[in-house]
Amino acid sequence: MSVPVVAFFNNKGGVGKTSLVYHLAWKLADIGTPVLAADLDPQANLTAAFLDGDAIEEIWTRGSEPRTIFEAIEPISQGTGDIAALEPPEIAENLTLLPGDLRLSSFEDELSSNWPGTLDGKPRSFRVVSALWRVMQDSARRSGATVILMDLGPNLGAINRACLVSADFVVIPLAPDLFSLQGLRNLGPAFRRWRSEWKERLAKKPADLRDDLPSGAMKPLGYVVLQHAVRLDRPVRAYQKWMDRIPIEYHQHVLDEASPVTYPLASDPGNLASLKHYRSLMPLAQEARKPVFHLKPADGAIGAHFDAVRESGRDFENLARRIAERAGIAVPEPLTALSP
Ligand SMILES: Nc1ncnc2c1ncn2[C@@H]1O[C@H](COP(=O)(O)OP(=O)(O)OP(=O)(O)O)[C@@H](O)[C@H]1O
Ligand SMILES: [Mg+2]
Repeated sequence: MSVPVVAFFNNKGGVGKTSLVYHLAWKLADIGTPVLAADLDPQANLTAAFLDGDAIEEIWTRGSEPRTIFEAIEPISQGTGDIAALEPPEIAENLTLLPGDLRLSSFEDELSSNWPGTLDGKPRSFRVVSALWRVMQDSARRSGATVILMDLGPNLGAINRACLVSADFVVIPLAPDLFSLQGLRNLGPAFRRWRSEWKERLAKKPADLRDDLPSGAMKPLGYVVLQHAVRLDRPVRAYQKWMDRIPIEYHQHVLDEASPVTYPLASDPGNLASLKHYRSLMPLAQEARKPVFHLKPADGAIGAHFDAVRESGRDFENLARRIAERAGIAVPEPLTALSP
């Protein structure tokens, strides 16, 4: 049985994907679900959120053991072997990181040139295209994770195609603006194309290939509206218009519904959450290298800020539970509150 992979993806850059994966990974770990946060963006921003500069430098300094996603796929990328196993670093109880690596971008060409080979049933092409998924699965098994949250860069290139083929589920973070809606229009067709191309290729899997392969399900779980990405110097109505259009665009282009229902944003089943703009709490959290909901008064979260910290904890818990429920991932029940 493979460990389910949830991809967080939008080909619009800078909407808040990495911050979302970072906070959700912490929250799932906090509520008792062992999680692997996989940094599959060659920009490695998720790795930089979890680890300080010294720790990253140590990981990126070449030793004899592979330490990053790139070093794990390097032998197969160079044609000298298959994937290499790595011990993913533990960040906290229930939380491990599959470290990212800027050198991962050099795998792009190898992935591109092996995509057609899978259609010809070539075993090495299958190994190359499934390498990232197999490293994630191996790391998750080593760390005991029951779910993998995968952060990706904002493009529709060969690395992301291999990553999305690796995804059982997809969550789409978006901003209420024209670019995000345009992003949805590109995403839906890309998911459908990659899903059917992978299905066609799975049928060509050579009988003697012993490796497991990803299912390529890419099931959309919904979208998360990130309000911080709203330009606050613009009048409210300028983005309200985009907010209102999110449900129909999602149902039409991502879910490919022939006659989509026009839901209001608040009651759209596709809407997993609308997250607040955390304003000055976000830089505070980044400086303290913590999720917003772990900030303490000693970190500078005082007064009304502290109320916002508590509220962010509840918002992320609701979102984490909703995603887990839709993806069929077991999460321990919340402790019953002692008082109402
Ligand atoms: N809820 C939030 N409130 C305030 N600021 C936020 C919030 N979420 C993200 N940000 C800020 O928005 C910026 C972009 O976020 P992030 O790096 O997570 O986006 P991304 O989609 O991963 O970008 P890329 O496409 O480059 O990978 C960061 O400076 C981050 O601190
Ligand atoms: Mg990012």
